[in-house]
Amino acid sequence: MFDVQKIRKDFPILTQLVNGHPLVYFDNAATSQTPKQVTDAIVDYYHRYNSNIHRGVHSLSQQATDAYEKARKKLQVHFNAKEAQEIIFTSGTTHSINLVASGYTKTLKPGDELLVSAMEHHSNIVPWQFLSQKTGALLKVIPMNQDGSLEISALDQLLTKKTKVVFIGHVSNAIGTIQPIEYIIKRAHDQNVEVLVDGAQAAPHLQIDVQELDVDYYTASAHKMCGATGIGILYGKREFLEELPPYQGGGEMISEVTFEKSTYAEIPHKFEAGTPHVSGAIAFGATVDYLNDIGYENFVPYEEDLLHYATERLKTVNDIIIYGDSINKTPVISFNIKGIHPYDIGSIMDQQGIAVRTGHHCAQPIMDFYQIPGTIRASFSFYNTKQEIDRMIDALLKAINMLK
Ligand code: ALA
Repeated sequence: MFDVQKIRKDFPILTQLVNGHPLVYFDNAATSQTPKQVTDAIVDYYHRYNSNIHRGVHSLSQQATDAYEKARKKLQVHFNAKEAQEIIFTSGTTHSINLVASGYTKTLKPGDELLVSAMEHHSNIVPWQFLSQKTGALLKVIPMNQDGSLEISALDQLLTKKTKVVFIGHVSNAIGTIQPIEYIIKRAHDQNVEVLVDGAQAAPHLQIDVQELDVDYYTASAHKMCGATGIGILYGKREFLEELPPYQGGGEMISEVTFEKSTYAEIPHKFEAGTPHVSGAIAFGATVDYLNDIGYENFVPYEEDLLHYATERLKTVNDIIIYGDSINKTPVISFNIKGIHPYDIGSIMDQQGIAVRTGHHCAQPIMDFYQIPGTIRASFSFYNTKQEIDRMIDALLKAINMLK
């Protein structure tokens, strides 16, 4: 039995007043809230064993190293990677994608092709544009349909012998569509093309099994999953990570250094130069423990129910346009009210304690497709309630009355 009131007690931030009203936090696709179980892990680290890892024989360093590697193991199990070494700690999905994209600089040449979707977050576009500019590889785009799905029939024509990498968001951050990545990975692999999946928006709502997906690279950010900011992972198949050159040079990523040349450490350390975000990584371990204790099988149906309820209630609002009505969606709704700028509505909702995101959501190509400057985006998590959705609707109606 999913008990939302019990779960809400784990999130002290939810009990506050914002602008004199109880907070309704519907900006979970940007950053989700963090339960006590996760912040306790951070405090425990700083209070008891804050220390640098891998660098000392002293006991605290050993304890920190053990906890850091234990967290890597938890993430391996959570994403079902074959080995813990295939999990690289990064600062988040943006870092993970840049790490991979920069690694292809020496292997691509003019005439090669990169394939992206029309629905990507900027962090899964710009690093590949850098790569295209450096190597002369051509960036091609799988188009999207009006309903917020991908025009998947275009895939076979776009995937050619020249294609080297496909990179695709598992879930659109702007409108919530879950992409058919299983099919895309299979089609790409049929042509020997490598695939990176940006899982930033998927990992909070879907149980990910990288081996079952047979994906080559997968990324996630802890702060979208009720974890800390500034920490994420890159999963990569061992053979790909071993081929990929290091992204940054520094301490802990080397095997031997002389002024003439350096050799690099084995994965994962080759990609973790410098002192990592030790407390963040440990907290990421506590985060997946927290999610798995509740159970995706328990909170995902609840989130789907919230999405359904909110969609039905929003549809009754005059002059509303909802973007993306794919049946495969995470709990994200992007909408506009005809004739009113999204920012104006968002500001009035904030005055009533409702936190939604407005703007282009770092996905300008989607906004260009719909020919709009931006949307109002409400994104839910399992600690939200239908009563909060009712409050959002009341606040929205008030904003519309004030602005029309
Ligand atoms: N990528 C984050 C969002 O969708 C910041 O809001």
